[in-house]
Amino acid sequence: MENVVNYIKQNKNNYIEELKDYLRIKSISTLKSNKKEMNICAKFVSDKLKKAGMEKVKIIPTKGHALVYGEWLKAPGKPTVLIYGHYDVQPVDPIELWDSDPFEPVIKDGKIWARGANDNKGQNFVHIKSVEAFMKTKGKLPLNVKFLIEGEEEVGSSNLEEFLKKNKKLLQCDAVLISDTSLYAEGVPTINYGLRGLAYLEVELTGPNRDLHSGSFGGAFANPINELAKLISKLHDKNNRVTIPNFYKDVLPFTKKEIENIKSLKFSEKKYAKEYGVRELQGEKGYNTLQRLWGRPTLDCNGIFGGYTEAGAKTVLPSKATAKISMRLVPNQDPKKIAKDFTNYVKSLVPKSVKIKVTDMHGGSPVVIPLDDPAIIAAAKATTKAFGKKTVYTREGGSIPIVVDFVNRLKAPAVLMGLGLDSDNIHSPNEHFSLKSFELGIFSSAYFFDEFSK
Ligand code: BES
Ligand code: MN
Repeated sequence: MENVVNYIKQNKNNYIEELKDYLRIKSISTLKSNKKEMNICAKFVSDKLKKAGMEKVKIIPTKGHALVYGEWLKAPGKPTVLIYGHYDVQPVDPIELWDSDPFEPVIKDGKIWARGANDNKGQNFVHIKSVEAFMKTKGKLPLNVKFLIEGEEEVGSSNLEEFLKKNKKLLQCDAVLISDTSLYAEGVPTINYGLRGLAYLEVELTGPNRDLHSGSFGGAFANPINELAKLISKLHDKNNRVTIPNFYKDVLPFTKKEIENIKSLKFSEKKYAKEYGVRELQGEKGYNTLQRLWGRPTLDCNGIFGGYTEAGAKTVLPSKATAKISMRLVPNQDPKKIAKDFTNYVKSLVPKSVKIKVTDMHGGSPVVIPLDDPAIIAAAKATTKAFGKKTVYTREGGSIPIVVDFVNRLKAPAVLMGLGLDSDNIHSPNEHFSLKSFELGIFSSAYFFDEFSK
């Protein structure tokens, strides 16, 4: 392993330059006008897989954005690892809050700053480069590797789900390795063993059949914005619990071990509040912050609009008001069932004076991964070696919709080797990724191949 590690150290600067090229591609998946940049990015990834020594590299078109596949299967009798990541990124708005161009990466304070630096280009590039380091120093890998890098994670991965259903054999493996989550803290090697799920809906209220003068008409009609505000305020009780009937019914409680583990992590709620600029944290009564984030479901309004929102004042009684509302889910909640319960509940809350339309946008199932799996044990050994510290185990508040499908359809464990930090501003202006984590991530990946092949 020494040669491989040295090779990575010697080539770190080249790797960073290549990562910069990756980050320059504006691969925002949600923009319909963006097909060309998405294809350029898929081509970039496929070229890098070829350069790393992967075979049968192909760009696989889907109804949406393309998948990139590559493999190296010349270690008979050894396990096979499927490495998953995504080359698509989130939109950059509000652009005026960025300190530098989101698609012109800058190195500052030991970090690389650009959209996708953490989520997910920086993190998936780690595995491409660890494979390359093995191939360049040894001419082979200690186990079999398949890569699947998609372009639609940020929009729900529905085309990958279809592909997975039809290509189980191609993707068959003994473990799925994913770096698209976070370290517990800077420099602390971390294996994530859970992700929350998601149910995302839009609620539209309509009052009068056109916008009206709020003087001539105000008082005679229900104002859909007022009614929407009332509705939203009814979705939590005074203990910050979600009021949808049966919402918590299928929630898996924490195990004793998990409660102990969380205690041992000595999370400082005070520091956390300070970092994000609030005087006090808030959440479901009866749980601490890590419990709330990792193993409790939540409901949040993600956007709200209606009436006059430009500068200045306009007296209007609007016809419509809309809210985007999402729920983070935990095992064993079912996103479809939750979406239905939500819909029935909000419909029951509105008065006859407004019409309500509820649209189910997308969802994803939550997951927890058993920690006694050989792949997890190998991964923990690998990250401990790379970081020179004991690995900790965390769950995540975020979601990666396809992970459940990998686990269920391929019957393989997911190894979530998170390398980002929660403070890296993913989905937000000034996204960044620590270059130290980038290097330690490449070591971790290389050590994992070594450990899992034993
Ligand atoms: N990398 C994130 C998921 C994530 C974020 C995991 C932070 C752990 C910590 C992923 O790219 C993502 O943003 N997922 C979306 C999924 C959604 C669009 C279906 C999410 O969680 O909102
Ligand atoms: Mn993301």
